[in-house]
Amino acid sequence: MAASQALSVLQATDEFEEILGKLHARNLPEFFELIEERIERERGANGCGAKPRGAEANLDESTADITLHSIASEVRNHPCLPPDAVLKSERIRHPTVGEFAALDPVTVVSVDKFLYEDDEAIDEMCDEGMLSRNYCLECGSHRSAPLNFISHSASSQQLKFIFQKALPDLNGKTVVDIGSRLGPVLYGAYFYSGASRIVGIEINPELCAIQEDMVKKFSLRDRIQVINADVCTQATLLQEADVVVMHNVFEFFAPSETQISIWKFLRETLKKKGCHLITLPSLAKSMETLKLSMDLTSWVKQCPLEHITRWIREDEAREEVQQICRYEIL
Ligand SMILES: C[S@@+](CC[C@H](N)C(=O)[O-])C[C@H]1O[C@@H](n2cnc3c(N)ncnc32)[C@H](O)[C@@H]1O
Repeated sequence: MAASQALSVLQATDEFEEILGKLHARNLPEFFELIEERIERERGANGCGAKPRGAEANLDESTADITLHSIASEVRNHPCLPPDAVLKSERIRHPTVGEFAALDPVTVVSVDKFLYEDDEAIDEMCDEGMLSRNYCLECGSHRSAPLNFISHSASSQQLKFIFQKALPDLNGKTVVDIGSRLGPVLYGAYFYSGASRIVGIEINPELCAIQEDMVKKFSLRDRIQVINADVCTQATLLQEADVVVMHNVFEFFAPSETQISIWKFLRETLKKKGCHLITLPSLAKSMETLKLSMDLTSWVKQCPLEHITRWIREDEAREEVQQICRYEIL
């Protein structure tokens, strides 16, 4: 097929879905078997196997997963970190605008998804009396309602999705995480991509110290660097980046006026053509929440990810990664 007629991944996925819709349910298993054989043949022919794209040179996927879990466990047990993973020195403010503003702050509890990935870990915390799933609606009564759990860290699932599925090969590239907190994005980039320079910018010095401890303990210094600074002082680094990750950076951490000036700084600074932005929530949503009018169409092009997320079977996993947005700077 001539290059101009070639299907995009999104179009091909749509056509594949259409074919599935036309098949009788009883023929699906046989069809899937044929497809699986075809994929295996393709992998063999390309010599690419099922190896995660650009993953750390000698690590297979399960080793990378296990190492990431070990880091999470090490951070969880770090002597400076309380169970809710929020330091006393942090000034987390409940947003006054946007989707979280509607929630009563008393009903919101921080549960870090990088540290407490699965329900079992959360159940354990509840059993040990460190956490409750419910709050009392009327003091003294038995009526209660579920608390709203929010995470200030990316989960391993989100990290894998970002670095193995959403982004192209990052071999030799520079990844910058704005607001690196406990460092999950840095560890994710290290183990799930071939990025050669991975930099976290974090304004809180104690959070930087925890990241530094992990970098040292797991010997990650060859590719990871942590900078204790306000992102607005890091224009040169941002201009060198090939990927910039912004995961809920400012919403809980700065008043609206400060957030607006940071976004204006980022709009002015992030100009490298082809640089990828990974954001959560979407840029449009962040602008809308802050009532900030910014012409996004002259800055970035959004790269759809639905053709990847739609294949994730588990609802919860799909919802988690569906919030992730990818853009390319024009
Ligand atoms: C939601 S956390 C992001 C965590 C991490 N990137 C992840 O995905 O797991 C946001 C972090 O941004 C940091 N932060 C907020 N404003 C900042 C600024 N102006 N410069 C650098 N870091 C900032 C906060 O201290 C907080 O640790």
